Amino acid sequence: MSLNRRPRRLRTTPAMRRLVREVRPQAAQLVLPLFVHEDLDAPRPILSLPGVDQLPLGGVRAAVEAAADAGIGGVMLFAIPSVRDADGSAACDVDGILNLAIAEAAGAAGDRLVVMADLCLDEFTDHGHCGVLDAEGNVHNDATVLVYQRMALAQARAGAHVLGLSGMMDGQVAAVRDALDDDGFQNVSILAYAAKYASAFYGPFREAVDSQLQGDRRTYQMDPANRREGALEAAIDEAEGADILMVKPALPYLDVLADVAAQSSVPVAAYHVSGEYAQIEAAAANGWIDRRAAHLEALTSMVRAGADIVVTYAAVELADWLREDA
Ligand code: PBG
Repeated sequence: MSLNRRPRRLRTTPAMRRLVREVRPQAAQLVLPLFVHEDLDAPRPILSLPGVDQLPLGGVRAAVEAAADAGIGGVMLFAIPSVRDADGSAACDVDGILNLAIAEAAGAAGDRLVVMADLCLDEFTDHGHCGVLDAEGNVHNDATVLVYQRMALAQARAGAHVLGLSGMMDGQVAAVRDALDDDGFQNVSILAYAAKYASAFYGPFREAVDSQLQGDRRTYQMDPANRREGALEAAIDEAEGADILMVKPALPYLDVLADVAAQSSVPVAAYHVSGEYAQIEAAAANGWIDRRAAHLEALTSMVRAGADIVVTYAAVELADWLREDA
């Protein structure tokens, strides 16, 4: 055949493929979630997230040092308190487990990596919702945002570098930005979970945080059917002052991720969530999939779609694999 375009020419050798590759994921763009449990003295495996443990407070330092040694960009802290109540008070308490974990992580990190904290009430409320409830039992947007402001100050005082606002309340970014600035925390950044869908892929996370939730989060997290609304949420959060925008989950929402990356002037993150990680782990454990290749392909796809930052439970291993491949 006489063809003036033969795309296979650039696939002939490993050296050629390496030369023409469009995206090159790096350890520095990876963020590792960490779960800190107030009642533990030793790490406890999370069965639905193979390779991930709930950590005691005393285990935070070593986990952060290992993450820094692996060269990843950051850690994202979640905590499981011993006592939960209707308003999630432990979230705003300086001695609350999440705030203690932030202080521990920030001390261990120095300036080697970025310490992020989840800013949401679901781990702290006895009903498991991401906010406080009104008399009818609905999550009350504006009352919740007031609690987020207090939670933000507690996290900033504890030393968090980035606050991950994951509650999906309207106006939360602007309100938290104001509260931080009023208290002199101009340099504490906001990562907004801008487009966060009400997803079945959060299943293992609910085990990881001993979730108390009955029902679902569909009045505040987004409907998986909505693509334009994801772009709108991101535009609102950017206008409210978000420093980083996140799309979550990641692979089922690469269209939304690509839209947000195309329209935004700030860095964009993707969260490869617990159920996405668990799918790979379960298939690999059955011998149905190549674990390393699947994790690397998932990462490459998120970066190709436009993610500058990727939050993943495989962050440390991915960093090791990327180093081996380099
Ligand atoms: C809420 C929060 C959730 C996740 C991160 N932050 C759970 C939810 O919205 O139900 C899920 C992360 C994952 O599945 O890996 N604080």
